[in-house]
Amino acid sequence: MKKYPLQLRAWHWLHALVLFGLLGTFFLRKTFLSWRTNAQILSAKLAALNITITDDQASALAKAVRAPMWWWHYALGFAFSALLLWRLVMHLRGGDGGGASDDPHMVWVRRVYVVVYGILAVMALSGLTLYFASSLGLSKAVMGGIKGAHEQLAWGVVAFAAAHIIGVFAGEQRGQRGIVSEMISGDRPRGA
Ligand code: HEM
Repeated sequence: MKKYPLQLRAWHWLHALVLFGLLGTFFLRKTFLSWRTNAQILSAKLAALNITITDDQASALAKAVRAPMWWWHYALGFAFSALLLWRLVMHLRGGDGGGASDDPHMVWVRRVYVVVYGILAVMALSGLTLYFASSLGLSKAVMGGIKGAHEQLAWGVVAFAAAHIIGVFAGEQRGQRGIVSEMISGDRPRGA
């Protein structure tokens, strides 16, 4: 039997893709698609053409430009939530091949993963709550709190993605050759 079942490997790469997409929208929101910056650019460029617009009009235009980015965020967000559910079912059925190794390193890794999956679950639940906020009849204050938590925890997800990639590179250097290959083919390459 392979160390990583096909189901887990498929899940892993789909999850990586969707998570990078979500982090990509986070990055765009803070940079090229920041409505504050773009509202200033639009006002300045229109002023150069002798067209004056109010600050509110400039932000409405800038927000309209980045609206498609939010649609990507929602679509990826639903995919992310479905993937988490899939992983939970897989785990409960013992299909993720994790096993219960007593190796102290693995015990430590499992503890970290409980925290990581906890954060990912809160991201999914808070995101879905924000998406359905009007149907749920949430007040502005409650929504603001959830939005704040969703945004702060996004940094936790950035930290996890960075630590995970650094960890894989470090593992490759420290006698754990083939961990990437393992997550593609399911087990160790010959001779590794
Ligand atoms: C790890 C995954 C995720 C990251 C890093 C992330 C990041 C963010 C960030 C930074 C914001 C901006 C918050 C603000 O405007 O104050 C946001 C807003 C939002 N996210 Fe996520 N998110 C994730 C998952 C999800 C999921 C699973 C959903 C579910 C559909 C979702 C739905 C939303 C909604 C509805 C908003 C509010 C957008 C608006 O202001 O109109 N997010 N997200």
